[in-house]
Amino acid sequence: MKDNAVIIGLQYGDEGKGRVSAHFIDDYDWSVRYSGGSNAGHTVYDEAGVKYKLHHLPAGAVFGKKVALHAGMVVNESELMEEYKALSHNFPLYISEAVHLTQPEHLAKDAQGSGIGSTKKGIAYVYADRAARKGIRAETLKKKYSALNFYKGMPPLKPGERALYEGAQGIMLDIDYGNYPYVTSSSIGPSIFSGISRVIGVMKAYVSRVGDGPPYHQDQEALRKAGQEYGTTTGRPRKCFWLDLDQMDYALSVVNPDEIVVTKLDILDGMKIKVIEFGREKEIGDLDAYKNFLINRFPAIKWFSDSPKGSLIKI
Ligand code: IMP
Ligand code: MG
Repeated sequence: MKDNAVIIGLQYGDEGKGRVSAHFIDDYDWSVRYSGGSNAGHTVYDEAGVKYKLHHLPAGAVFGKKVALHAGMVVNESELMEEYKALSHNFPLYISEAVHLTQPEHLAKDAQGSGIGSTKKGIAYVYADRAARKGIRAETLKKKYSALNFYKGMPPLKPGERALYEGAQGIMLDIDYGNYPYVTSSSIGPSIFSGISRVIGVMKAYVSRVGDGPPYHQDQEALRKAGQEYGTTTGRPRKCFWLDLDQMDYALSVVNPDEIVVTKLDILDGMKIKVIEFGREKEIGDLDAYKNFLINRFPAIKWFSDSPKGSLIKI
């Protein structure tokens, strides 16, 4: 099967990948998370308009899709079980045996401070043990959870089934391509692109950042207030900035998405919108002017999301 797709964040996470995933999931049978752990927080509205904050589970969990937590992820067992039980939706849950499990000592070490303002979910330390080949993997849970489906290798798609891979964080938090050391401890893309023929990049109409490190532009209080930019996982206020064109050019040079979705345009309605180019602010104008500017500057943009519940408009 060559028809699988992946959703990748083009900034510092919190681009709205969850709602984008919810939009596209209709066309897919499987919803797959493949990196990061409960450091992520995806906000998703189900068909009834009810809001969910997901940390491990990808958006398909609230749409009855087959859900896989794939190799490359780290899972906090008790947090996952709480998240799973809190959903009234029915969906089959598959877990790769190669998923690594957060241990109490990982959390204890992260609680002492990672030095870069982590989410304190133990992420760096779980991945460190994985790299050191002494981690504890989900294969150890097989006997304990008979209702869950464990698998080796790739998610067990049946012939004709298609999967939507849902990225966590964003390219600037990638351990290799991000602003090291102010990054998370995993890759933002899947470790294997087996069968993925469509790369969907997600950019927010402005930038937000939690944790230490770049960008160091002027923090925009008005964006934080209008966009309700507080961390889904930690509740921390996110620093907010105008869209950085140079950062976007870099992200596109790395990710090279087939199509881009721009989210949260509605937040900028009524503002004098600016961008950052070569480190300096440049005024673009009102929302219509900004949309035109974006489409011209980034021709891969194919979708705008400009309503709070994130329905996408095709360009
Ligand atoms: P860690 O992944 O908890 O170790 O945190 C490392 C860095 O990545 C910190 O700057 C976090 O704030 C940031 N980070 C990790 N996950 C997310 C996310 O899902 N959204 C936004 N920032 C994140
Ligand atoms: Mg988030």
